[in-house]
Amino acid sequence: MEVRKIAVLGAGLMGHGIAQVAAQFGKYQVSLRDISQEFIDRGMSMIRNSLQKFQSKGVISETEMNEILARIHPTLDLNEAVSDADLIIEAIPENVELKKKIFSEVDGLAPSHAIIASNTSSISITELGSATKRPEKVCGMHFFNPPQLMKLVEIIKGAKTSDETIETVKQVAQKMGKETVLVKKDCPGFIVNRILIPALNEAAALVWEGIADPEDIDKAIKLGLNWPMGPLTLLDYIGVDTILAITNVLETEIDPKFKACPLLKQMVRARLLGRKTGKGFYDWTKK
Ligand code: 3HC
Repeated sequence: MEVRKIAVLGAGLMGHGIAQVAAQFGKYQVSLRDISQEFIDRGMSMIRNSLQKFQSKGVISETEMNEILARIHPTLDLNEAVSDADLIIEAIPENVELKKKIFSEVDGLAPSHAIIASNTSSISITELGSATKRPEKVCGMHFFNPPQLMKLVEIIKGAKTSDETIETVKQVAQKMGKETVLVKKDCPGFIVNRILIPALNEAAALVWEGIADPEDIDKAIKLGLNWPMGPLTLLDYIGVDTILAITNVLETEIDPKFKACPLLKQMVRARLLGRKTGKGFYDWTKK
């Protein structure tokens, strides 16, 4: 199937970046939908900032920047976003009930040939597929933060996803300039988060147990393992709430050994979520 138009649902940290790479590298027409004008405006402003970075480095010209922006159509109207889309990429918050609700709504509004993909990092693709009458056209399309720079997309096959759906989504991801890997079984955390999240949880446990300071933990992993960012910086970067949510899914769905460190729970209760609230393991208001 040929994909011409993509709808991205959610203009947040991931959604704005996915919409941008679809319009910038994939040259797709993209509708970007969120539930309030404030979220749309913030998403479009993040896209403009990112495009300006590419422009200042000479990766794109000013004309190209304007052409990319013209391919992105922000909207509050779900029907307008998906009614002529060939591929819908859902990037709303990690809440299974919320996601099932939007999958069911989209199923009723999108053309019958359209594929509905989720950027979920841990929720069952099979369960999301069951909220629709087209589970064979539902799959996972998991991008990494920041989507504009990270090369990988994990493609996840739900229990009923067809091979044709996987092939179409793989071609779209490649057109967006991404490398793909196939997750053959729908298991929470897929590949990357199954390995990353326990590592981040352990980094938080080292702080909780008073074994080392955040700066030294990050320094150790950056210099000892060559990570581009230390694990606690990465936790702040992704969001402590997001990491806690994924850890909880790994614990309940795979094994109790993935139990979250109490410090993560405490930080979420205190709204110390990292970059997005200004404070987490580090103070981002001064950076
Ligand atoms: N758009 C365009 N350009 C951007 C950008 C954006 N959104 N963000 C940063 N850049 C550019 C900067 O302008 C800079 O350009 P320059 O080198 O020409 O000055 C360059 O990218 C590097 O940025 P910084 O100097 O700010 O910082 P870094 O060198 O540390 O690079 C990084 C930033 C690429 C994010 C790097 O730190 C990194 O790879 N970090 C790890 C990210 C990671 O692990 N992501 C995965 C998270 S897990 C996940 O997403 C899964 C989820 O389910 C939890």
